[in-house]
Order: sequence, then structure tokens, then C-alpha cells
Amino acid sequence: MTLHEQVAPDVGLIDADAERLGQVLGTLLDNALRHTPPAGSVSARATRDDGGVHLGIADTGDGIDARHLPHVFERFYRADTARDREHGGSGIGLAVARAIVVQHGGRISAASEGPGKGATFTVTLPATGPLDVS
Ligand SMILES: Nc1ncnc2c1ncn2[C@@H]1O[C@H](COP(=O)(O)OP(=O)(O)O)[C@@H](O)[C@H]1O
Ligand SMILES: [Mg+2]
Repeated sequence: MTLHEQVAPDVGLIDADAERLGQVLGTLLDNALRHTPPAGSVSARATRDDGGVHLGIADTGDGIDARHLPHVFERFYRADTARDREHGGSGIGLAVARAIVVQHGGRISAASEGPGKGATFTVTLPATGPLDVS
């Protein structure tokens, strides 16, 4: 498994509870690692634009079918119950993650081009201060 990380130099600051935000990123990373085979890769990146700070966790793993995608943030929802049950999750990680992000005035989204094509989760949070701080 290859792990990449990339933080834009001008990403700036966000006003967040570090422990709770760490929990969100931990959930996304845990899911990505669990759904990606050893030959795959997981990347974490942080970027900034007018819309805020974007924290993305992308993997090249199992992917998510389009019909499951809108539901993955629901409490207890698990896209592939037979397979996911073996992985021991309870299906609440993303529901809790979304609640934390919303409490911070942000949003979270999931994208995937389908089964086997990997998944990307993006957390967007309001940045504190102006975009151009130079
Ligand atoms: N990176 C990912 N790749 C593929 N499927 C994912 C990924 N992250 C989450 N999922 C799907 O979303 C469901 C919900 O995730 P989560 O709330 O963290 O529950 P859990 O990890 O306990 O199953 C998972 O069961 C899985 O089907
Ligand atoms: Mg999980």
C-alpha cells in the first residue's frame, strides 16, 4: 500500500476542534485503508480556494456503486453488508464524521466512479482569514 500526502503551502487555518476533526480524518483514512488492496494507494491532501479548505482522502480501492453513494453517510448504512461485516465496522463512522463536519459549518461528500474504481471523500471547512495572506 502506498500512502501519499500533499498539503498546499497556502492552505491557511481553520477554526476547528482538533480532536473531533482528527476523528473525522481518522474515519476516512481507516475506511480508505480497509477498502484498498495492498497494491493500491491512498492519498491525503489539503487545498484552499474561495470556498474554504478542502481535505481529501482518495483511494484506488473497492469504489462505491452509484446507488449506494447517496447513502453512505446514513447511520448504520453499509454498502456491501456481507463483505463489510467481515471488516467489523458498525456503519456509523461516516454518520458521525458528517455530524462533526456540519457542527463546524462545513460539509462532506463522497465520490466514486463505481465498483473497483476507488473513492474520494472530501471535507470542506470554512477558512479563517483571507485567501491571500502573503
Ligand atoms: N473508502 C471507501 N471505499 C469503499 N467503500 C467505502 C469507503 N468508505 C466507506 N465506504 C462504504 O460506506 C459504508 C459506511 O462507512 P462507515 O460509516 O465508516 O461504516 P463502517 O466503516 O463501519 O462500515 C461502508 O460500510 C462501506 O460500504
Ligand atoms: Mg468506517
